[in-house]
Amino acid sequence: MEEIKNGAVTEETAEDTEQRENLEEMFQDLEKVIMAMEDSDVTLEKSFDLYNRGMELLKKCNRTIDEVEKKVLVLDEDGETHEYQKRVESIEEILKRYLPAREGYQEIITEAMEYSLMAGGKRLRPMLMRESYELFGGKGRLVEPFMAAIEMIHTYSLVHDDLPAMDNDDYRRGRKTTHVVYGEDMGILAGDALLNYAFETACTAFDLEPEHSLLIGKALQILARKAGIFGMLGGQVVDVKESGHRITGDVLDFIYRLKTGALIESSVMIGAVLAGASDSETAEIENIAAKVGMAFQIQDDILDVTSTTEMLGKPVHSDEKNEKTTYVTLKGLDEAGKEVERLTSEALCGLSGLGHENEFLEALLKWLVYREK
Ligand code: IPE
Ligand code: IPE
Ligand code: MG
Ligand code: MG
Ligand code: MG
Repeated sequence: MEEIKNGAVTEETAEDTEQRENLEEMFQDLEKVIMAMEDSDVTLEKSFDLYNRGMELLKKCNRTIDEVEKKVLVLDEDGETHEYQKRVESIEEILKRYLPAREGYQEIITEAMEYSLMAGGKRLRPMLMRESYELFGGKGRLVEPFMAAIEMIHTYSLVHDDLPAMDNDDYRRGRKTTHVVYGEDMGILAGDALLNYAFETACTAFDLEPEHSLLIGKALQILARKAGIFGMLGGQVVDVKESGHRITGDVLDFIYRLKTGALIESSVMIGAVLAGASDSETAEIENIAAKVGMAFQIQDDILDVTSTTEMLGKPVHSDEKNEKTTYVTLKGLDEAGKEVERLTSEALCGLSGLGHENEFLEALLKWLVYREK
């Protein structure tokens, strides 16, 4: 069987074949068990046996599927990088290309922008944008300035989120935060600079494909609104305002939908719009991303409690320090974890309903549930 890797068709390895054949056999066995259970003459004892056998097989199938997905997404047995890492590298190449030149009396600010932008990070938003662009048939480089722009806006939100007047955190993406290295004044200005430069960058799309100016204009509208007071910024406002006391689940959902959901929604929407998707397709993928965004923020809350600073590259227990109500404080770790799984499976269901296959995107969404950073 042939498979597509990074645009190229490659032969299936012997190990892959064995895994696939095992899986096929397991599914066939499972089907036999189900048929036997449906037989009206089956005794109660026999049906218990069949049930147990069926559950065993199901667990084995799930384990094999998990292994395959992990392979598709991140690492193979020897720790070799796969699709995810290749995409990160390609995104970072784009980011470097769009960074402003380090020159002029204001050079310090371009250095601080690069410091925060190129520190690493999962690059989830530009990755989702490109996947969505390609899902709806987008080709070429039109999406690239927008990919850089969304990561600049996301990075600005992190630089400001860490400021002493906000969450007051000293580490981000495994480094000292921008304000710690460059001072609070330059921290504020570096955030402002990234936000403004994001729009300067996105506007270069007009030079790339002037014939698609209408689509570019629409994409800019989405970018502006989802980053603003009815999007990420609005969410941060309520997050800060409602710190220090308990809040209801409704207010918490509002905060998450905006502070985290909005940029994730805008990523897939912009990808879709630039590829020429219809309004209803764009709305559908926005809904799917809203679930991903919510699950993503709940998982961020969980990791703030369960992970380590080394793993996250940012301080743990930041929420407790800032007396934030989170999904974990409101519902407990177990319930929060279940909510992440529930939202992700709804998102996956929505994705398959779109009628365009994207194995990588599916694996990426599943990985986000179990991510450790
Ligand atoms: C952190 O976002 C802020 C949240 C919205 C939870 P990410 O977890 O995507 O941060 P990076 O980009 O990987 O550093
Ligand atoms: C912030 O949420 C989301 C942003 C818009 C930056 P958090 O404050 O929980 O993000 P982290 O944990 O500092 O990354
Ligand atoms: Mg915060
Ligand atoms: Mg924070
Ligand atoms: Mg957090």
